[in-house]
Amino acid sequence: MADLLNLDSISAQNRYKLLSALVIPRPVAWVTTVNAQGVVNAAPYSFFNVFGRDPALIILGLQHKPDGSAKDTTRNIDAAGEFVVILATPALIADMVRTAASYDPGESEPNALGLKLAPSGRRSRCNRMRTHDGAVAERGTVDPSGRAVGWATRDGLVDTDTMYVDWADDYPVARLFADRYARLEEIERHSIPDPYRPETSGEDRE
Ligand SMILES: Cc1cc2nc3c(=O)[nH]c(=O)nc-3n(C[C@H](O)[C@H](O)[C@H](O)COP(=O)(O)O)c2cc1C
Repeated sequence: MADLLNLDSISAQNRYKLLSALVIPRPVAWVTTVNAQGVVNAAPYSFFNVFGRDPALIILGLQHKPDGSAKDTTRNIDAAGEFVVILATPALIADMVRTAASYDPGESEPNALGLKLAPSGRRSRCNRMRTHDGAVAERGTVDPSGRAVGWATRDGLVDTDTMYVDWADDYPVARLFADRYARLEEIERHSIPDPYRPETSGEDRE
C-alpha cells in the first residue's frame, strides 16, 4: 500500500518542499516588471506555465515573502498590469538564479548584476488579466494570469511562415527543486499519433 500524505495536515513550507520536488521539471519564467519610477525588476518563477491559446494565457504563482509582504514582482504587476517572461537557456542560468536574491524594492537586479536588457516593447509582454488571491494560505500566494500579447525571439528561433520553432538544441532550462535544474538534452520522439487528432504530424501536435 502506498503512503498517503494529507497535504492539508502539513505546514505550507513542507507542502512547498513536497510539491516542488514532485512536480518536475517545471519551466522557469524569468519575469521582468517595471515599477512606477521606471526601475526594472527581475526574478525567476517556476510556478509558471501556459494554460491556453485563445487567449494565450500565462499563469505565475507568486508566494509572499516569509514576513507576509508581497514580492516586488507582485507589487509591480499589481500596479502596472503587465509583465515580461524570459525563457532562460543554460548560458543564462547563473544570472537568472542571482536575480532571486533579496534586493530592496526599487533596486534593479539587472542593474546591480550588470545584466544587459533588450527592450521588450509593448508587443512582447503579458497583460495581466486577473489576479487570484490565495489569501487563505498560511503565507499568501497570488496567481496573476496574463494574456501574452507578443513574443520577442532570438534570431532564427521561429519560422514565421510555418510557425515552427527551432531551438537548435539550446532549450530553456527547467527547475527541479532546491538548486537542481535540468537541461533538455535527450528528446524522445515516439511514432504513436495523437488519438484525438491522428491526422496531424508530430510538429503540429499540442
Ligand atoms: C529558479 C527559481 C524559481 C523560483 N520560483 C518561484 C516561484 O514560483 N514563486 C515564488 O514566489 N518565488 C520563486 N522563487 C523565488 C523568487 O525568485 C525570489 O523570492 C525573488 O527574490 C523575488 O524577487 P522580487 O521580490 O524582486 O520579485 C524562485 C527562485 C528561483 C531561483
